[in-house]
Amino acid sequence: MVNGVLSVWALGRGGAESWFCHSVHNCVTDQSSLTTLSLSVTVTAHWGQMQPVKAKVEILDAKTREKLCFLDKVEPHATIAEIKNLFTKTHPQWYPARQSLRLDPKGKSLKDEDVLQKLPVGTTATLYFRDLGAQISWVTVFLTEYAGPLFIYLLFYFRVPFIYGHKYDFTSSRHTVVHLACICHSFHYIKRLLETLFVHRFSHGTMPLRNIFKNCTYYWGFAAWMAYYINHPLYTPPTYGAQQVKLALAIFVICQLGNFSIHMALRDLRPAGSKTRKIPYPTKNPFTWLFLLVSCPNYTYEVGSWIGFAIMTQCLPVALFSLVGFTQMTIWAKGKHRSYLKEFRDYPPLRMPIIPFLL
Ligand SMILES: NC(=O)c1ccc[n+]([C@@H]2O[C@H](COP(=O)([O-])OP(=O)(O)OC[C@H]3O[C@@H](n4cnc5c(N)ncnc54)[C@H](OP(=O)(O)O)[C@@H]3O)[C@@H](O)[C@H]2O)c1
Repeated sequence: MVNGVLSVWALGRGGAESWFCHSVHNCVTDQSSLTTLSLSVTVTAHWGQMQPVKAKVEILDAKTREKLCFLDKVEPHATIAEIKNLFTKTHPQWYPARQSLRLDPKGKSLKDEDVLQKLPVGTTATLYFRDLGAQISWVTVFLTEYAGPLFIYLLFYFRVPFIYGHKYDFTSSRHTVVHLACICHSFHYIKRLLETLFVHRFSHGTMPLRNIFKNCTYYWGFAAWMAYYINHPLYTPPTYGAQQVKLALAIFVICQLGNFSIHMALRDLRPAGSKTRKIPYPTKNPFTWLFLLVSCPNYTYEVGSWIGFAIMTQCLPVALFSLVGFTQMTIWAKGKHRSYLKEFRDYPPLRMPIIPFLL
């Protein structure tokens, strides 16, 4: 047909059906597309012309409706990522990662991998643009967020000058639990740093720069507040002594192992370099069996770790940090749970977002 590649040119029809036929790549794998292919060829032959119909894309400001860009002759099979690249050529200040393109000014952002001809648009597609603001890579974000608490906690643990008064400078606590708490806290954040670097396969490359200030205030602020009390020279160890500490340590260690196991299971769902999302299922590792009952067991284990740490230190700021973290993770878990239900019709019905049978 064209260029020796069996590509069939679209006869743009506009409206919801938008593009009349598909590339052969789709046609050979899909019976319904085969029908579409033969139909379109007949019609094309009847018309006696084989004109590639290219799309026009206009990009409007989602807030003001001002026309920002008009792209002529866009390939119907262009992805949103490719359209973003074309838009950047006329507006270099908006590099692709800070662009959100939508079909509706107030609707959801289109995904980078969405293909123009599969969207409900006509031959002239109108897309609405929103500036997401300056972006920063997720890895940088996580490293900043997690390295902060690790470092800040240690300043209090070593009682550097200007925190507790001159006479306590570089002194050490006489309570074992204070040292154990430091090990647990450091372990937790070192684990998170290593997971960010070597385990997680994120689907989004970047996040708005402004979020980092909010997140760092949260993580760094709470770390300083917790560390101040736990390492305070007047700190009193937990009421039930060694028994309470041992129980808390067991909870902490189990939950850390569980959290790590879930992260590994999530990683294995996504081949390197892809953005695939699948339903996570329990594996041979018993820590992942919590997937039978909740959608986000990594959050369940994360909250469990902080509850363990709160019991160990018997410290109010730790309990508050656990509560705030639990609230935030519950909101996220509910969102993820809803997305699973929407995306997968065969999603296991027994699962709850974060707490088995409850929440
Ligand atoms: N203490 C706190 O306040 C707090 C708050 C939040 C998180 N955390 C900790 O940080 C960890 C990571 O948080 P998160 O919110 O990034 O966790 P998450 O959304 O569960 O994601 C963890 C990783 O798994 C991927 N993933 C999730 N579901 C997937 C699926 N169905 N198929 C394929 N890949 C999937 C994610 O990719 P995507 O990039 O596609 O999402 C991401 O790379 C948590 O588990 C928790 O330990 C702590």
